[in-house]
Amino acid sequence: MTGERIALVTTDAEFLGDEERDIEALVSALKTRRFEVETPIWYDQQVDWSGFDLAVMRSPWDYPGRYAEFMHWLDQVTQQVRVLNPPELIKWDMDKRYLQDLANAGVPCAPFEFCTRPAQVGEAIANCKAASVIVKPTVSVASANTGWFASDDPSALTLARQIFALGKTVMVQPAIEHVTRHGENALIYFNGEFAASFHKGPILTFGGGYIGGHYIEDISRGHPTAAEIAVGDQVMAAIQTIGRGRGFSSDAQTPLYARIDVAMAAGTQPQILEVEAFEPAYFADIIPEVAEIFAQAVIDRLAAR
Ligand SMILES: Nc1ncnc2c1ncn2[C@@H]1O[C@H](COP(=O)(O)OP(=O)(O)O)[C@@H](O)[C@H]1O
Ligand SMILES: [Mg+2]
Repeated sequence: MTGERIALVTTDAEFLGDEERDIEALVSALKTRRFEVETPIWYDQQVDWSGFDLAVMRSPWDYPGRYAEFMHWLDQVTQQVRVLNPPELIKWDMDKRYLQDLANAGVPCAPFEFCTRPAQVGEAIANCKAASVIVKPTVSVASANTGWFASDDPSALTLARQIFALGKTVMVQPAIEHVTRHGENALIYFNGEFAASFHKGPILTFGGGYIGGHYIEDISRGHPTAAEIAVGDQVMAAIQTIGRGRGFSSDAQTPLYARIDVAMAAGTQPQILEVEAFEPAYFADIIPEVAEIFAQAVIDRLAAR
């Protein structure tokens, strides 16, 4: 089951800077298993995608600024090579409105309300019945345009208007105190199985903006509870059901990889904040075993076909 050619899809070094902390470890874990591995740039016209046995989405992280081009490329590349995670799953996962599907499937999610018009935002904030709220776009990366405000702070409405001006949908949530104080746990799943966890510290500062003035991820090893992993397992089962209902390919019903962010609500039950099944970071520098588990998951996946 070795010797196949694998593409870990990324983007250019100028864009990535030192943000891509996984790819070397993943390449090395795959090469140890005798795969041929390359790290092509998604928009590189010279790449012959049909020459690969599998393309794994790794870090095409400049896609938000080149959205139409990226979506076009995604549809093209799928004609040429097996892509994991598959485009239908990626597209579902790009917009946090997928939380409605998960909630409908019985997954405990942090409460949310979506607003498509400014007039809905005040009511959504009132409906939170919370002292403070989070306002964010449903399509976002790296906490962009995400703010934490007192419920009566007019800045919450100002941010919402800015999000609408970008042509996006607004999402309002009660602020979960455990997340704003201590952060969240990220559960990494491969082929539907829990693999590893990291913890992400708080990011937002009260009244709008980021702690320390700019976006920084404070990452450490995670120690999820059994209850948190049970919720992660529930998400995996729900994705299978949702995927089947939406006519996804079987490849898309079980993500090769996913990162599930869980929050402890009021110190009681874990709730889902988001599910990242497109281009998650694994932080292999902090949880090194993740690279080996990833490589084994790729082997299992190729063998399953
Ligand atoms: N309901 C919430 N309560 C508390 N903090 C939140 C909430 N939603 C988001 N945050 C904070 O904002 C960050 C970014 O929000 P998130 O929903 O993870 O969007 P993304 O990571 O896609 O930008 C989270 O990591 C968390 O620190
Ligand atoms: Mg997040």
